[in-house]
Amino acid sequence: MLRQKKTSALIIGSGLAGLSCALELARRGITVTVVSKSEDLYACNTAWAQGGIAYLDDTQSVGDSLELYAQDMIQSGDGMNHEPAVQQLTQLGNKLIKAEMIDQLKIPFDRDSRGILLKSKEGAHSRARVIHVGDATGKAIQTGLVKVATAHPNIEILSNYTAVDLLTTQHHCVGRTFTYSLDNVCCGAYLLDNTSGRVKTVPADYTLLATGGIGQLYLHSSNSPGSIGDGMVMAKRAGAAILFPHYIQFHPTALAKGRQRFLISEVVRGAGAQLLNGRGERFMKRYNPQQLELASRDELTRAIIQEMIANEEEFVYLDLSTHRQEEGPIEERFPTIFQECLKFGIDIRSQPIPVVPAAHYLCGGVKVDLNGRTTLERLFAAGEVACSGAHGANRLASTSLTECLTWGHQAAKTIADALERQEGLSDTIVNALRDWEDVGESVRLDRQRLAGDWSRMRTVMWNYVGIIRNPKLLEIASKDFRLLGESLAELYFNAAMSKDLVDLFHGIRACQLIVDSAKKDPVSVGCHYLSG
Ligand code: SIN
Repeated sequence: MLRQKKTSALIIGSGLAGLSCALELARRGITVTVVSKSEDLYACNTAWAQGGIAYLDDTQSVGDSLELYAQDMIQSGDGMNHEPAVQQLTQLGNKLIKAEMIDQLKIPFDRDSRGILLKSKEGAHSRARVIHVGDATGKAIQTGLVKVATAHPNIEILSNYTAVDLLTTQHHCVGRTFTYSLDNVCCGAYLLDNTSGRVKTVPADYTLLATGGIGQLYLHSSNSPGSIGDGMVMAKRAGAAILFPHYIQFHPTALAKGRQRFLISEVVRGAGAQLLNGRGERFMKRYNPQQLELASRDELTRAIIQEMIANEEEFVYLDLSTHRQEEGPIEERFPTIFQECLKFGIDIRSQPIPVVPAAHYLCGGVKVDLNGRTTLERLFAAGEVACSGAHGANRLASTSLTECLTWGHQAAKTIADALERQEGLSDTIVNALRDWEDVGESVRLDRQRLAGDWSRMRTVMWNYVGIIRNPKLLEIASKDFRLLGESLAELYFNAAMSKDLVDLFHGIRACQLIVDSAKKDPVSVGCHYLSG
């Protein structure tokens, strides 16, 4: 069937933002459709999150406060944060962690023998407040969510489907009323069945983008494979406002082995590990003698890159010989990291880990309010794809899962309230929607071209739109992407539909969006650092 019956809520993305929205709507009796690009519901950044989630409990967080937590976020964000979003994340977010994660989903956060939650310290946090499940916190959360969501009768999960385009009245409804109307309304999406190559029209009363970030546009990234900025690109094409797409955070420490940059969590440094250059110097003493390895991520990342350039080295080392004993044995506190490094012959109990920075988190994105509403009617966004201003120009560690939970929940509440007021999409709009037309299959996407174009994009993004930027480099990248974008547009409109084709096209558009925005922003702040 090329057209699906209208759904009340179409949720594109199946990580924490998408599934927490789906669960809240389902609890309120609303049937929802969740789309996952992959067959594997663990192929998302939520499941890959290691360190944990900042949380303050009433009785145990002595000497800490939500005000202090909010101040840390603003300091880390270089003052570019939107304060109401910071307040919502810290205050409502903290309540939701208790209600949803601890009480409802019963995520098995680590506790001491008295049952008290164990808390770690991470960079730029003024207190130890990060709760965790070993070093695989995201996986434990995703496991809890997937279990409940897949069993819920109100939740339909379409896995192995790729969103191709958001449907809007101005672009996809047939009829002069729509052509001449000043209003533009989101009314669902075209979804590609990755297996059959057919594109379905899925009308929806409300659509939520929860597609995650952009890390995989870079040569070195800590992100899951689908993180290519597709949600942001679709939102932009549909007419929604995008904010600061060039605010891209690099994680300071990823394993410098293998094609995929495996993350070495910030909590490893929080537990005492030190950064050393090739000469064995603890170089952070020169860059930030107060905070050392727990400086904010943007600062630490730049220090590492500068050190690598000055010493002509391809990585620096993370040395765990200073790991604090009270954190427990290294292999028990960080079992996933321990095992992953062993695969490369590194025993982290006795050998330093070679590390490099890697693209990690999109602090900008689709502009949203406190309820996840975008500037396009009936379109919502939550999680990494969205920009509420909570993170300013540089996100504080272990706040991203809270953001997903909070904005996913707020979007669900807003959508459910609207549906209860009978504010669904009219039949006139649904009936006017054009189904997808395959325009031609004259060109084949060959594997060599696919690999070559991705490699070119990632290399240019890493070298010219990376950690330290300057206007000349941004201009070079922009010209290169313009050329590549033109040739890909031609390919896109003539080749047979496939997930690879859609991803490639979304990838180049995301690169263009980022570089063009970076070029226009002369203010060097947070993770948009300009030199020269
Ligand atoms: C980490 O474990 O270092 C990642 C945590 C985060 O990105 O918030």
